[in-house]
Amino acid sequence: MAFLRNAWYCAGWTNELSDRPLGRTFLGEPVAMYRQTNGAAVAVGGRCPHRFAPLSMGKVVDDCIECPYHGLRFGPSGACSHNPHGDGAIPKAASVRAYTLAERDGIVWIWMGDQTLADPRRVPDMHEIAEQQGWRVIRGELKVKAHYELLTDNLMDLSHVPFLHPFLSNAEALPADYHEVRSLKQEGETVYSLHTAKNLPMTPLFAMLWDGETPAQGDLRANMRWEAPANLLLDVGMVPPGAPGAAGPSLPIAHLLTPETEHSTHYFWALARDRKVDDAQMDGILHAGISDVFKNEDERMIVECAHMMDTNDLFSLNPVLLQGDGPSIRARRLLRTRIDKERAACEAIR
Ligand code: FES
Ligand SMILES: [Fe+2]
Repeated sequence: MAFLRNAWYCAGWTNELSDRPLGRTFLGEPVAMYRQTNGAAVAVGGRCPHRFAPLSMGKVVDDCIECPYHGLRFGPSGACSHNPHGDGAIPKAASVRAYTLAERDGIVWIWMGDQTLADPRRVPDMHEIAEQQGWRVIRGELKVKAHYELLTDNLMDLSHVPFLHPFLSNAEALPADYHEVRSLKQEGETVYSLHTAKNLPMTPLFAMLWDGETPAQGDLRANMRWEAPANLLLDVGMVPPGAPGAAGPSLPIAHLLTPETEHSTHYFWALARDRKVDDAQMDGILHAGISDVFKNEDERMIVECAHMMDTNDLFSLNPVLLQGDGPSIRARRLLRTRIDKERAACEAIR
């Protein structure tokens, strides 16, 4: 199955890049990233063309990355800039790819396709999880051994929450006046999975963040936004029954899924909160709680599903469709159309 190449993917967090190379594989391609002396972020192919050493194990010298094996150096353009051997001549084939990076909202974005098409103005807007006054942000990442669309499915259908995540929902004994609505919305190529619940018993997560007396019940919103290939933002918050959106804690959370390979996914997440923002202990509790939810509940389930599916595509297995599947199916179809169009354009050029 092909990847969408002409798209922005999350490569990591801005504070991860330094003058020490960072190696990651995206869409099956090893990449080495670092910062130049002037702070500019660089991403080049991570495999040395001489004997294929991982360049991320090397070091940055004069804003170039030096291979840890025989010392060839490659500059930000990917061209070899220094050969310490023989007469120092630089072999014609000695170069690696260079990738365009963009930094916004604390996120490093990478363009894996045709570099002439990389437009930083089209980087997904994730300002909700950027560092800003009155908000506190925590971040994490996981590596999940499953195809990234299985993670999209998981995030676009949050009807699994009461079954899989006791930390997030205690909806087992729902009151008679409980009422929930799930719906699908599409704007252009952006898909939303919208969920509101009225008179939901207070969840442990929101109870922890509540200022003052915690109501026994509240109204929850959990609206997920998806943009191709797999950049998602969840607007989640809870308020006392009937109260406006700012009357309770808001917890926007970005879920940025970047395929490592066909069978593994980088899962970068960032959670912002507008309550207890100076409480460092809360950072630790939330980080541990969210990591536990993603790692031991979502990831564990998704990987088991991936095993059950073997190498089969979802649709080839004729999955039963439930009402909550609408948004994920819409996202899958839009992504498929984008990939097919991109392939057709490539083939037309050849
Ligand atoms: S493997 Fe990189 S210089 Fe030899
Ligand atoms: Fe989940």
